[in-house]
Amino acid sequence: MTNIPTSLNILGIETSCDETAASIVRCETNNTNGYRGTILSNCVHSQLKEHAVFGGVVPEIAARAHVEMLDDIIAQALKEAKLTFTDLDGVAVTAGPGLIGGLLVGMMTAKMICLTHNLPLIGVNHLEGHALTVGLTDNISPPYLLLLVSGGHTQLLTVKDIGDYQRHGTTVDDALGEAFDKTAKLLGLGYPGGPQVEKHATKGDANRFAFPRPMIGRKEPHFSFSGLKTAVRQEAQKCQPLQDQDIADLCASFQTAVVDTVCDRVATALQHYRLVTAQNEPDRLVVAGGVAANKILRQGLEELCNAEDVTLIIPPAHLCTDNAAMIAWAGALRLHRGLNDPLDLGVKARWPLDVDATPMTGAGVKA
Ligand code: KG4
Ligand code: ZN
Repeated sequence: MTNIPTSLNILGIETSCDETAASIVRCETNNTNGYRGTILSNCVHSQLKEHAVFGGVVPEIAARAHVEMLDDIIAQALKEAKLTFTDLDGVAVTAGPGLIGGLLVGMMTAKMICLTHNLPLIGVNHLEGHALTVGLTDNISPPYLLLLVSGGHTQLLTVKDIGDYQRHGTTVDDALGEAFDKTAKLLGLGYPGGPQVEKHATKGDANRFAFPRPMIGRKEPHFSFSGLKTAVRQEAQKCQPLQDQDIADLCASFQTAVVDTVCDRVATALQHYRLVTAQNEPDRLVVAGGVAANKILRQGLEELCNAEDVTLIIPPAHLCTDNAAMIAWAGALRLHRGLNDPLDLGVKARWPLDVDATPMTGAGVKA
Protein backbone atom coordinates (compact mmCIF):
# COMPACT_ATOMS: atom_id res chain seq x y z
CA MET A 1 0.00 0.00 0.00
CA THR A 2 1.20 3.51 -0.76
CA ASN A 3 0.23 6.90 0.72
CA ILE A 4 -0.69 5.60 4.16
CA PRO A 5 -2.20 8.47 6.19
CA THR A 6 -0.31 9.60 9.32
CA SER A 7 -3.40 8.95 11.44
CA LEU A 8 -5.20 5.60 11.17
CA ASN A 9 -8.48 4.50 12.76
CA ILE A 10 -8.30 0.73 12.99
CA LEU A 11 -11.08 -1.65 14.00
CA GLY A 12 -9.66 -4.65 15.85
CA ILE A 13 -11.53 -7.96 16.17
CA GLU A 14 -10.55 -10.75 18.59
CA THR A 15 -12.35 -14.12 18.70
CA SER A 16 -9.53 -16.65 19.14
CA CYS A 17 -10.68 -18.08 22.48
CA ASP A 18 -13.52 -17.20 24.87
CA GLU A 19 -13.64 -13.41 24.59
CA THR A 20 -15.67 -11.74 21.84
CA ALA A 21 -13.94 -8.40 21.49
CA ALA A 22 -13.89 -5.33 19.24
CA SER A 23 -11.98 -2.09 19.64
CA ILE A 24 -11.10 1.05 17.75
CA VAL A 25 -7.58 2.35 18.12
CA ARG A 26 -6.25 5.54 16.56
CA CYS A 27 -2.59 5.29 15.64
CA GLU A 28 -0.73 8.49 14.82
CA THR A 29 2.76 8.77 13.50
CA ASN A 30 5.34 11.33 12.57
CA ASN A 31 8.86 10.70 11.44
CA THR A 32 10.49 11.84 14.69
CA ASN A 33 8.34 10.40 17.48
CA GLY A 34 7.37 7.01 16.04
CA TYR A 35 3.85 5.76 16.74
CA ARG A 36 1.32 6.80 19.37
CA GLY A 37 -1.93 4.98 20.01
CA THR A 38 -5.21 6.08 21.55
CA ILE A 39 -7.90 3.59 22.50
CA LEU A 40 -11.21 5.07 21.31
CA SER A 41 -13.21 2.06 22.47
CA ASN A 42 -12.43 -1.37 23.88
CA CYS A 43 -15.42 -3.73 24.14
CA VAL A 44 -15.04 -7.25 25.51
CA HIS A 45 -17.76 -9.82 26.05
CA SER A 46 -16.41 -12.66 28.17
CA GLN A 47 -18.02 -16.08 27.69
CA LEU A 48 -17.00 -17.15 31.21
CA LYS A 49 -20.56 -18.08 32.21
CA GLU A 50 -21.07 -20.29 29.16
CA HIS A 51 -17.91 -22.31 29.91
CA ALA A 52 -17.80 -22.25 33.73
CA VAL A 53 -20.02 -25.33 34.16
CA PHE A 54 -17.53 -27.35 32.07
CA GLY A 55 -14.47 -26.07 33.98
CA GLY A 56 -12.79 -24.94 30.74
CA VAL A 57 -13.42 -23.53 27.27
CA VAL A 58 -15.59 -25.71 24.99
CA PRO A 59 -14.61 -24.81 21.37
CA GLU A 60 -18.05 -25.41 19.79
CA ILE A 61 -19.84 -23.33 22.43
CA ALA A 62 -17.22 -20.59 22.02
CA ALA A 63 -17.69 -20.42 18.23
CA ARG A 64 -21.47 -20.23 18.52
CA ALA A 65 -21.26 -17.50 21.16
CA HIS A 66 -18.92 -15.47 18.90
CA VAL A 67 -21.47 -15.72 16.04
CA GLU A 68 -24.20 -14.47 18.35
CA MET A 69 -22.22 -11.61 19.90
CA LEU A 70 -19.73 -10.24 17.39
CA ASP A 71 -21.96 -7.91 15.31
CA ASP A 72 -23.30 -6.25 18.47
CA ILE A 73 -19.83 -5.87 19.98
CA ILE A 74 -18.52 -4.22 16.79
CA ALA A 75 -21.54 -1.87 16.71
CA GLN A 76 -20.87 -0.99 20.36
CA ALA A 77 -17.16 -0.35 19.66
CA LEU A 78 -18.05 2.05 16.81
CA LYS A 79 -20.69 3.80 18.93
CA GLU A 80 -18.35 4.32 21.89
CA ALA A 81 -15.66 5.64 19.55
CA LYS A 82 -18.30 7.94 17.95
CA LEU A 83 -17.30 6.65 14.50
CA THR A 84 -18.95 4.82 11.62
CA PHE A 85 -17.47 2.24 9.22
CA THR A 86 -16.65 5.06 6.78
CA ASP A 87 -14.27 6.63 9.34
CA LEU A 88 -12.12 3.49 9.44
CA ASP A 89 -8.79 3.04 7.66
CA GLY A 90 -8.53 -0.72 8.10
CA VAL A 91 -9.75 -3.84 9.88
CA ALA A 92 -7.34 -5.93 11.94
CA VAL A 93 -8.44 -9.42 12.93
CA THR A 94 -6.84 -12.23 14.90
CA ALA A 95 -5.90 -14.84 12.29
CA GLY A 96 -4.37 -17.30 14.81
CA PRO A 97 -3.28 -19.08 16.90
CA GLY A 98 -6.47 -20.16 18.63
CA LEU A 99 -9.67 -22.17 18.33
CA ILE A 100 -10.44 -22.53 14.65
CA GLY A 101 -14.23 -22.00 14.88
CA GLY A 102 -13.88 -18.69 16.70
CA LEU A 103 -11.07 -17.51 14.41
CA LEU A 104 -13.26 -18.20 11.36
CA VAL A 105 -16.13 -16.14 12.80
CA GLY A 106 -13.82 -13.15 13.31
CA MET A 107 -12.12 -13.53 9.93
CA MET A 108 -15.36 -13.82 7.92
CA THR A 109 -16.80 -10.77 9.66
CA ALA A 110 -13.62 -8.75 9.07
CA LYS A 111 -13.56 -9.68 5.38
CA MET A 112 -17.20 -8.71 4.96
CA ILE A 113 -16.54 -5.25 6.45
CA CYS A 114 -13.45 -4.81 4.26
CA LEU A 115 -15.31 -5.82 1.09
CA THR A 116 -18.32 -3.63 1.84
CA HIS A 117 -16.32 -0.53 2.78
CA ASN A 118 -13.25 -1.08 0.61
CA LEU A 119 -10.84 -1.27 3.52
CA PRO A 120 -7.51 -3.07 3.90
CA LEU A 121 -7.55 -6.30 5.92
CA ILE A 122 -4.75 -7.00 8.37
CA GLY A 123 -4.44 -10.52 9.79
CA VAL A 124 -2.77 -10.34 13.20
CA ASN A 125 -1.05 -13.05 15.20
CA HIS A 126 -2.75 -13.03 18.62
CA LEU A 127 0.64 -13.40 20.30
CA GLU A 128 1.95 -10.38 18.40
CA GLY A 129 -1.00 -8.45 19.83
CA HIS A 130 0.13 -9.33 23.36
CA ALA A 131 3.78 -8.72 22.44
CA LEU A 132 3.24 -5.16 21.13
CA THR A 133 0.68 -3.93 23.71
CA VAL A 134 3.33 -1.97 25.68
CA GLY A 135 3.74 0.29 22.66
CA LEU A 136 0.10 1.28 23.09
CA THR A 137 0.05 1.51 26.90
CA ASP A 138 3.56 2.73 27.74
CA ASN A 139 4.94 3.96 24.42
CA ILE A 140 7.67 1.30 24.62
CA SER A 141 9.22 0.10 21.39
CA PRO A 142 11.41 -2.98 20.83
CA PRO A 143 13.75 -4.51 21.82
CA TYR A 144 12.53 -6.05 25.08
CA LEU A 145 12.15 -9.45 26.67
CA LEU A 146 8.54 -10.66 26.78
CA LEU A 147 7.10 -13.11 29.31
CA LEU A 148 3.71 -14.19 28.00
CA VAL A 149 1.72 -16.16 30.56
CA SER A 150 -1.94 -16.90 29.77
CA GLY A 151 -4.39 -19.79 29.73
CA GLY A 152 -3.11 -20.94 26.34
CA HIS A 153 0.50 -19.71 26.17
CA THR A 154 3.65 -19.61 28.23
CA GLN A 155 6.59 -18.17 26.34
CA LEU A 156 9.74 -16.10 26.73
CA LEU A 157 10.65 -14.14 23.60
CA THR A 158 12.87 -11.30 22.57
CA VAL A 159 10.74 -8.79 20.68
CA LYS A 160 13.27 -7.34 18.21
CA ASP A 161 10.86 -5.49 15.93
CA ILE A 162 7.33 -5.78 14.55
CA GLY A 163 7.27 -9.24 12.96
CA ASP A 164 10.73 -10.13 14.29
CA TYR A 165 10.76 -12.39 17.35
CA GLN A 166 13.21 -14.82 18.88
CA ARG A 167 11.72 -17.42 21.15
CA HIS A 168 13.94 -18.48 24.05
CA GLY A 169 11.54 -20.66 25.96
CA THR A 170 8.08 -22.19 25.86
CA THR A 171 6.14 -24.81 27.80
CA VAL A 172 6.62 -28.47 26.98
CA ASP A 173 3.18 -29.31 28.38
CA ASP A 174 0.59 -27.11 30.16
CA ALA A 175 0.43 -23.33 29.89
CA LEU A 176 0.80 -21.55 33.23
CA GLY A 177 -2.81 -20.32 33.36
CA GLU A 178 -3.92 -23.85 32.52
CA ALA A 179 -1.87 -25.16 35.48
CA PHE A 180 -3.66 -22.66 37.75
CA ASP A 181 -7.04 -23.70 36.29
CA LYS A 182 -6.36 -27.44 36.65
CA THR A 183 -5.06 -27.00 40.20
CA ALA A 184 -8.21 -25.04 41.11
CA LYS A 185 -10.39 -27.71 39.52
CA LEU A 186 -8.81 -30.57 41.46
CA LEU A 187 -9.21 -28.60 44.70
CA GLY A 188 -12.89 -27.99 43.92
CA LEU A 189 -12.45 -24.23 43.36
CA GLY A 190 -14.21 -22.31 40.57
CA TYR A 191 -13.23 -21.44 36.98
CA PRO A 192 -11.12 -19.57 35.96
CA GLY A 193 -8.83 -20.98 38.60
CA GLY A 194 -6.03 -18.40 38.77
CA PRO A 195 -7.89 -15.77 40.81
CA GLN A 196 -9.32 -18.53 43.09
CA VAL A 197 -5.91 -20.07 43.78
CA GLU A 198 -4.48 -16.62 44.47
CA LYS A 199 -7.33 -15.80 46.87
CA HIS A 200 -7.06 -19.03 48.88
CA ALA A 201 -3.25 -18.79 48.93
CA THR A 202 -3.40 -15.56 50.93
CA LYS A 203 -4.57 -17.62 53.96
CA GLY A 204 -2.13 -20.47 53.41
CA ASP A 205 1.32 -21.64 54.49
CA ALA A 206 3.59 -21.71 51.44
CA ASN A 207 6.10 -23.93 53.25
CA ARG A 208 3.75 -26.76 54.20
CA PHE A 209 4.16 -28.72 50.94
CA ALA A 210 7.56 -29.06 49.24
CA PHE A 211 6.40 -29.04 45.63
CA PRO A 212 8.87 -29.50 42.74
CA ARG A 213 10.25 -26.45 40.90
CA PRO A 214 10.12 -27.91 37.36
CA MET A 215 12.97 -27.07 34.93
CA ILE A 216 14.91 -24.93 37.46
CA GLY A 217 18.56 -24.63 36.50
CA ARG A 218 18.09 -25.89 32.92
CA LYS A 219 20.14 -24.00 30.30
CA GLU A 220 17.18 -23.36 27.97
CA PRO A 221 14.41 -21.28 29.60
CA HIS A 222 11.59 -23.74 28.89
CA PHE A 223 8.71 -24.47 31.27
CA SER A 224 6.84 -27.56 32.42
CA PHE A 225 3.87 -27.54 34.75
CA SER A 226 2.15 -30.92 34.46
CA GLY A 227 4.44 -32.58 37.09
CA LEU A 228 3.72 -29.79 39.54
CA LYS A 229 -0.01 -30.23 39.02
CA THR A 230 0.35 -34.00 39.63
CA ALA A 231 2.29 -33.29 42.84
CA VAL A 232 -0.59 -31.08 44.04
CA ARG A 233 -3.06 -33.86 43.25
CA GLN A 234 -1.02 -36.44 45.20
CA GLU A 235 -0.72 -34.23 48.27
CA ALA A 236 -4.41 -33.31 48.05
CA GLN A 237 -5.30 -37.03 48.03
CA LYS A 238 -3.29 -37.54 51.24
CA CYS A 239 -5.29 -34.75 52.94
CA GLN A 240 -8.78 -36.17 52.20
CA PRO A 241 -11.26 -34.98 53.31
CA LEU A 242 -9.80 -31.57 52.43
CA GLN A 243 -10.25 -28.84 55.05
CA ASP A 244 -10.19 -25.13 54.16
CA GLN A 245 -6.71 -24.81 55.66
CA ASP A 246 -5.43 -27.71 53.50
CA ILE A 247 -6.75 -25.97 50.37
CA ALA A 248 -5.16 -22.67 51.42
CA ASP A 249 -1.80 -24.36 52.12
CA LEU A 250 -1.90 -26.31 48.84
CA CYS A 251 -2.66 -23.10 46.91
CA ALA A 252 0.08 -21.12 48.68
CA SER A 253 2.68 -23.89 48.21
CA PHE A 254 1.71 -24.32 44.54
CA GLN A 255 1.88 -20.58 43.88
CA THR A 256 5.30 -20.24 45.50
CA ALA A 257 6.63 -23.15 43.42
CA VAL A 258 5.28 -21.42 40.30
CA VAL A 259 6.89 -18.09 41.16
CA ASP A 260 10.27 -19.69 41.93
CA THR A 261 10.13 -21.54 38.61
CA VAL A 262 9.05 -18.56 36.54
CA CYS A 263 11.69 -16.26 38.09
CA ASP A 264 14.44 -18.82 37.44
CA ARG A 265 13.29 -19.22 33.81
CA VAL A 266 13.12 -15.44 33.31
CA ALA A 267 16.63 -15.00 34.80
CA THR A 268 17.93 -17.58 32.31
CA ALA A 269 16.05 -15.94 29.42
CA LEU A 270 17.59 -12.56 30.34
CA GLN A 271 21.02 -14.03 29.59
CA HIS A 272 19.78 -15.15 26.15
CA TYR A 273 18.13 -11.75 25.59
CA ARG A 274 21.36 -9.90 26.42
CA LEU A 275 23.21 -11.96 23.85
CA VAL A 276 20.78 -11.11 21.04
CA THR A 277 20.28 -7.38 21.78
CA ALA A 278 22.75 -4.52 21.62
CA GLN A 279 24.67 -4.17 24.91
CA ASN A 280 23.98 -0.46 25.37
CA GLU A 281 20.19 -0.94 25.24
CA PRO A 282 18.48 -0.70 28.65
CA ASP A 283 17.21 -4.17 29.60
CA ARG A 284 13.42 -4.36 29.82
CA LEU A 285 11.07 -7.16 30.79
CA VAL A 286 7.46 -6.92 29.62
CA VAL A 287 4.81 -9.27 31.07
CA ALA A 288 1.52 -10.05 29.30
CA GLY A 289 -1.33 -12.57 29.58
CA GLY A 290 -3.97 -13.20 32.24
CA VAL A 291 -1.54 -14.68 34.79
CA ALA A 292 0.27 -11.30 34.87
CA ALA A 293 -2.55 -10.25 37.26
CA ASN A 294 -1.10 -12.53 39.97
CA LYS A 295 0.30 -10.35 42.76
CA ILE A 296 2.80 -12.86 44.13
CA LEU A 297 4.17 -13.43 40.62
CA ARG A 298 4.48 -9.66 40.10
CA GLN A 299 6.29 -9.36 43.42
CA GLY A 300 8.73 -12.14 42.48
CA LEU A 301 9.41 -10.54 39.10
CA GLU A 302 9.88 -7.11 40.70
CA GLU A 303 12.53 -8.53 43.05
CA LEU A 304 14.27 -10.29 40.18
CA CYS A 305 14.25 -7.14 38.01
CA ASN A 306 15.60 -4.99 40.86
CA ALA A 307 18.44 -7.46 41.43
CA GLU A 308 19.19 -7.68 37.69
CA ASP A 309 18.84 -3.93 37.03
CA VAL A 310 16.03 -4.55 34.55
CA THR A 311 12.99 -2.30 34.01
CA LEU A 312 9.75 -4.24 34.53
CA ILE A 313 6.70 -3.16 32.53
CA ILE A 314 3.30 -4.78 33.04
CA PRO A 315 0.38 -3.22 31.11
CA PRO A 316 -2.91 -2.68 33.03
CA ALA A 317 -4.73 -5.97 33.73
CA HIS A 318 -7.55 -5.39 31.19
CA LEU A 319 -4.94 -5.02 28.43
CA CYS A 320 -2.89 -8.03 29.63
CA THR A 321 -5.86 -10.35 29.15
CA ASP A 322 -7.44 -10.99 25.75
CA ASN A 323 -8.82 -7.84 24.12
CA ALA A 324 -9.20 -6.33 20.66
CA ALA A 325 -7.29 -3.08 21.32
CA MET A 326 -4.04 -5.04 21.12
CA ILE A 327 -5.15 -6.51 17.77
CA ALA A 328 -6.11 -3.07 16.40
CA TRP A 329 -2.77 -1.62 17.57
CA ALA A 330 -0.68 -4.44 16.05
CA GLY A 331 -2.77 -4.11 12.88
CA ALA A 332 -2.12 -0.36 12.72
CA LEU A 333 1.64 -0.85 13.08
CA ARG A 334 1.57 -3.48 10.33
CA LEU A 335 -0.55 -1.29 8.04
CA HIS A 336 1.88 1.62 8.51
CA ARG A 337 4.51 -0.71 7.09
CA GLY A 338 2.27 -1.79 4.22
CA LEU A 339 1.85 -5.26 5.72
CA ASN A 340 -1.85 -5.75 4.96
CA ASP A 341 -3.22 -9.04 3.63
CA PRO A 342 -5.24 -10.29 0.65
CA LEU A 343 -8.94 -11.06 1.16
CA ASP A 344 -8.36 -14.81 0.76
CA LEU A 345 -6.32 -14.89 3.99
CA GLY A 346 -6.89 -18.03 6.07
CA VAL A 347 -6.79 -18.70 9.82
CA LYS A 348 -4.31 -20.90 11.70
CA ALA A 349 -4.83 -22.89 14.91
CA ARG A 350 -1.05 -22.91 15.49
CA TRP A 351 1.13 -20.00 14.51
CA PRO A 352 4.45 -19.45 16.28
CA LEU A 353 5.83 -15.91 16.43
CA ASP A 354 9.33 -17.25 15.88
CA VAL A 355 9.08 -19.52 12.84
CA ASP A 356 12.65 -20.76 13.35
CA ALA A 357 12.03 -21.99 16.92
CA THR A 358 12.03 -25.75 17.43
CA PRO A 359 8.38 -26.81 17.75
CA MET A 360 7.29 -28.39 21.05
CA THR A 361 4.57 -30.96 21.06
CA GLY A 362 2.03 -31.78 23.73
CA ALA A 363 -1.20 -30.59 25.24
CA GLY A 364 -1.40 -26.86 25.77
CA VAL A 365 1.28 -26.02 23.21
CA LYS A 366 -0.42 -23.80 20.65
CA ALA A 367 2.52 -21.88 19.27
O1 KG4 B 1 -4.89 -14.01 28.87
P1 KG4 B 1 -6.12 -14.66 29.41
O2 KG4 B 1 -7.22 -13.76 29.90
O3 KG4 B 1 -6.79 -15.60 28.37
C1 KG4 B 1 -6.07 -16.52 27.61
O4 KG4 B 1 -5.83 -17.62 28.13
O5 KG4 B 1 -5.70 -16.19 26.47
O6 KG4 B 1 -5.64 -15.60 30.60
C2 KG4 B 1 -6.53 -16.38 31.33
C3 KG4 B 1 -5.73 -17.20 32.31
C4 KG4 B 1 -6.58 -18.24 33.04
O7 KG4 B 1 -5.92 -19.47 32.98
C5 KG4 B 1 -6.65 -17.68 34.45
O8 KG4 B 1 -6.78 -18.69 35.43
C6 KG4 B 1 -5.33 -16.96 34.57
O9 KG4 B 1 -5.13 -16.35 33.31
N1 KG4 B 1 -5.38 -15.93 35.63
C7 KG4 B 1 -4.61 -15.95 36.74
C8 KG4 B 1 -5.00 -14.83 37.52
N2 KG4 B 1 -5.98 -14.16 36.84
C9 KG4 B 1 -6.18 -14.84 35.68
N3 KG4 B 1 -3.67 -16.81 37.13
C10 KG4 B 1 -3.08 -16.58 38.31
N4 KG4 B 1 -3.40 -15.55 39.13
C11 KG4 B 1 -4.35 -14.65 38.78
N5 KG4 B 1 -4.67 -13.65 39.58
ZN1 ZN C 1 -4.15 -14.18 24.82
